[in-house]
Amino acid sequence: MCGIFAYLNYLTPKSRQEVLDLLLTGLKRLEYRGYDSTGVAIDSPDNKNIVMVKRTGKVKVLEEAIQEHFSGADYSEPVLTHIGIAHTRWATHGVPCERNSHPHRSDEGNGFVVVHNGIITNYNDVKTFLAKRGYDFESDTDTEVFAKLVHHLWKTHPTYSFRELVEQAILQVEGAFAIAVKSKHFPGECVASRRSSPLLVGIKTKTRLATDHIPILYGKDDKKLNPDQDTDSGKQQVLPRSESTSEFMPLEEKEVEYFFASDASAVIEHTNRVIYLEDDDVAAVRDGTLSIHRLKKSLDDPHAREITTLKMEIQQIMKGNYDYFMQKEIFEQPDSVVNTMRGRVRFDGNAIVLGGIKDYIPEIKRCRRLMLIGCGTSYHSAVATRQLLEELTELPVMVELASDFLDRNTPIFRDDVCFFISQSGETADTLMALRYCKQRGALIVGITNTVGSSICRESHCGVHINAGPEIGVASTKAYTSQFISLVMFALVMSEDRLSLQQRRLEILQALSKLADQIRAVLKLDSKVQELAKDLYQHKSLLIMGRGYNFATCLEGALKVKELTYMHSEGIMAGELKHGPLALVDDSMPVLMIVLRDPVYVKCMNALQQVTSRKGCPIIICEEGDEETQAFSSRHLEIPRTVDCLQGILTVIPMQLLSYHIAVLRGCDVDCPRNLAKSVTVE
Ligand code: F6R
Repeated sequence: MCGIFAYLNYLTPKSRQEVLDLLLTGLKRLEYRGYDSTGVAIDSPDNKNIVMVKRTGKVKVLEEAIQEHFSGADYSEPVLTHIGIAHTRWATHGVPCERNSHPHRSDEGNGFVVVHNGIITNYNDVKTFLAKRGYDFESDTDTEVFAKLVHHLWKTHPTYSFRELVEQAILQVEGAFAIAVKSKHFPGECVASRRSSPLLVGIKTKTRLATDHIPILYGKDDKKLNPDQDTDSGKQQVLPRSESTSEFMPLEEKEVEYFFASDASAVIEHTNRVIYLEDDDVAAVRDGTLSIHRLKKSLDDPHAREITTLKMEIQQIMKGNYDYFMQKEIFEQPDSVVNTMRGRVRFDGNAIVLGGIKDYIPEIKRCRRLMLIGCGTSYHSAVATRQLLEELTELPVMVELASDFLDRNTPIFRDDVCFFISQSGETADTLMALRYCKQRGALIVGITNTVGSSICRESHCGVHINAGPEIGVASTKAYTSQFISLVMFALVMSEDRLSLQQRRLEILQALSKLADQIRAVLKLDSKVQELAKDLYQHKSLLIMGRGYNFATCLEGALKVKELTYMHSEGIMAGELKHGPLALVDDSMPVLMIVLRDPVYVKCMNALQQVTSRKGCPIIICEEGDEETQAFSSRHLEIPRTVDCLQGILTVIPMQLLSYHIAVLRGCDVDCPRNLAKSVTVE
């Protein structure tokens, strides 16, 4: 999804060239989110104008355009205070093109320029309102209305501060957004806000900050402007000026730099001190001082926003020796699964403590049912662990795709426990489903990989999967860590069930061996690459399995689809004869997962159904299982583990296979077409 990066230096001299470099690096760190065009806005050398450069395509294209645009100009002169805003756009309204790229401007003079993530749902109404007042639109986007609305308010309310103008504009718009606004009429100031789209402020000072929080300020009056009451309609607007009770006071630092970004990976190389903004926070910087305002006072508002110290390291968001982030993340799994269990699983005492939910376990044990809700890969982690959760919790477990769950207005009760699984913690459908369940009184448990994300903050309790930053758009290590988090939860729930102790022990022992077994599976890499060479020119790939490995089929097919643009389908082997068998012939590539578990015989039946239709499946089987291997010309052997953890070992060859096919087909592995890492629109 779109990415925002804005930078403001106050009394910290930086040349425009340095500011541009900072903006471009910020955008590069956001590339993984998925985008199709880019843009920046900085001040012109005489400080009287705003210069914008926008391009379709990658940040590299923008970088070249910037070099060309500014060639000959002297951008090496240090500037004491400057604001630059930058954006990666993932098209929603209007095709990817320069005209639709951000920043968007209020007028030909670039009075106000805006970068925006999300969707302004009432943009048509606002557009009509502004068009009647003489505004011409130059893009197909929803964002442009915001820039023009701020301009209109500035014209009609000349006494308003920059922040107040932006606040009034926010009160007029509906939908989801994160925005950063810069204006030539308010030099040295930047205003940013969010509603349902993530945005954080990074703070960099020379000395350690004297405070660990920024107080929240309120306007005396937050009355919303009536859009029909403007000077054009002949009525003088009498809008109350929303003065803050105490204007700008918090940070006393003299020299300071601020970074506004959609996520922490864009700021971590500059500072580890950040504030995660909440919905309807308005962050404004004026005279080098940051203040945070709320549009409306609410009883449960805290008095301040905390300055958080990020734990992330810059190396975690660099590729290192790998060609792609996805490849790096696949190979990180022996460590990431251990990090998920670290400090939680005690293999010597066979004990598990999940600090984030331990106080809620008695309540969860009394619940009516467990609901696991997510999208895409996160949903698959729920499918993968459902059977074990049913077995160890002895509760009904429903697994739901967030979008479908909302479409159905699914009945939810106060004694339901709803798990929201999301790597990013920002997926709009999952977040909407969370709010839906929360309103109905259910207990909300978040399973996320992103500290400070919306799902994290809005859950009653949760498990942080600790997989480390996942940059490749296709989720890999987050899947295996979500899987392990849910397995750990099942183990916690069955701690005091005598009849389940043997089973728990078996799983705990298997967990202790998992990292080494993943290492063993990763050694199949070159064999998988050879298989990819046989498959990459095909149009389709069917992946079949059942029981604990059905989720691997779904997840494997999703990986193949999203990375290689090949058709792929995950097929429940038990369903084969109810339709999919018709697809099988001697030319259709088929991959089957056949492991020695309770459904082995049924899987062998399916295998024979395929071979007797001249199908020649590639098999994923257990090490040394020659009997099964005899049914295929090619096979991948994985180490034996307990049935409920097989899915972790079987998904890795699928991740590797999709990766290699994507490379062979010349696809953009880390940023597949049309996809975004963090899907913040419904
Ligand atoms: C596929 C993939 C997506 C995400 C889905 C949910 O590789 O990454 O299917 O799993 O968009 O995202 P999160 O987990 O961030 O909620």
